[in-house]
Amino acid sequence: MTMTQPSRTQASSHAMMAPRRRDPAPGLRALPSVRPAPPAPQAVEPVQAKRARVITVTSGKGGVGKSSMVANLAVAMTRLGKSVLAFDADLGMANLDVLFGVRPQYTLYHVLKGKRDLPGILVSGPPGVKFIAGGSGMAELADLDDRAMGELLQNLRRLESYSDVLLIDTGAGLSRNVLSFVRAADEVLLVTTPEPTAMADAYGVLKTLAMEGSSVPRTSIVVNKVKDPEEGLLVARRFSKVAREHLQLRVDYAGFVLEDENVSLSVRRQKPVVMLYPNSYASVCITNIVAGLFDSPAPPAPANQPGFFERLAGLFRRS
Ligand SMILES: Nc1ncnc2c1ncn2[C@@H]1O[C@H](COP(=O)(O)OP(=O)(O)OP(=O)(O)O)[C@@H](O)[C@H]1O
Ligand SMILES: [Mg+2]
Repeated sequence: MTMTQPSRTQASSHAMMAPRRRDPAPGLRALPSVRPAPPAPQAVEPVQAKRARVITVTSGKGGVGKSSMVANLAVAMTRLGKSVLAFDADLGMANLDVLFGVRPQYTLYHVLKGKRDLPGILVSGPPGVKFIAGGSGMAELADLDDRAMGELLQNLRRLESYSDVLLIDTGAGLSRNVLSFVRAADEVLLVTTPEPTAMADAYGVLKTLAMEGSSVPRTSIVVNKVKDPEEGLLVARRFSKVAREHLQLRVDYAGFVLEDENVSLSVRRQKPVVMLYPNSYASVCITNIVAGLFDSPAPPAPANQPGFFERLAGLFRRS
């Protein structure tokens, strides 16, 4: 993907919540064909030889919108006919279950306590989306030692063939767990807001990855909570330029999401905004990002390349 602005689209705006401020993106309207595709069949049984496209969503600074992004990307992807497995890897501060409005009976906690196996904790979210909940009050999970983490990841391998896309929500920052989930992904969505602090922290993540010497997965930036499309483009351009000049890394532009109070309204109602307010500014932006992700071919995966969890487990074995 290049540094182009996500396409602007047309549609009726009657269902939009009336913005309380000037229209930030007068040309930005919902897609005309908002009739959702029938949800993909629920991914219960693994499909032979299928290997999910693994997308890790991360950030430097906390609170920039990663988890909301994952919940909404997941739903938006199902509208393109993809089956999605969302994995809450924010060990310690997991909340994907809350965003999906589901109370899972079992979480990773039960797996780590040996009370359940991983397929036994897969939960159905919105149609077409399965997820693995992290659970709450899991401070001990955040401190998993390498052996426990390696074991968990080996088990997770079994789930790789369950869906078209494996979407991973991480915690913010530079913890070893987060960096491992980033390094082992096929591609990374690095979320920032236009705030210089968020941009600096996002750059810090990239720099740490680059310094560690291992190859950095294809990385795209998502600029969240922008006031207008131009701001998103400006932030992405600036970020890519710095990454190119100082780290010799290419960072693509996945798109922007306008600051939109419908996002927090949806969080409060525990339903992704793309379901609750499909014609809102934020929803249209997220739909555009997803369209762009599937427009650009997934990074090539050589036939003998190990799957995501195998790579991840390998990272822990080496340490
Ligand atoms: N485009 C947006 N417009 C307005 N508010 C937003 C937008 N995106 C996210 N938010 C709000 O920002 C807050 C933080 O979002 P979220 O929890 O998704 O961030 P996070 O990066 O996952 O945080 P953490 O680092 O703690 O995991 C939430 O209150 C959410 O409603
Ligand atoms: Mg989060």
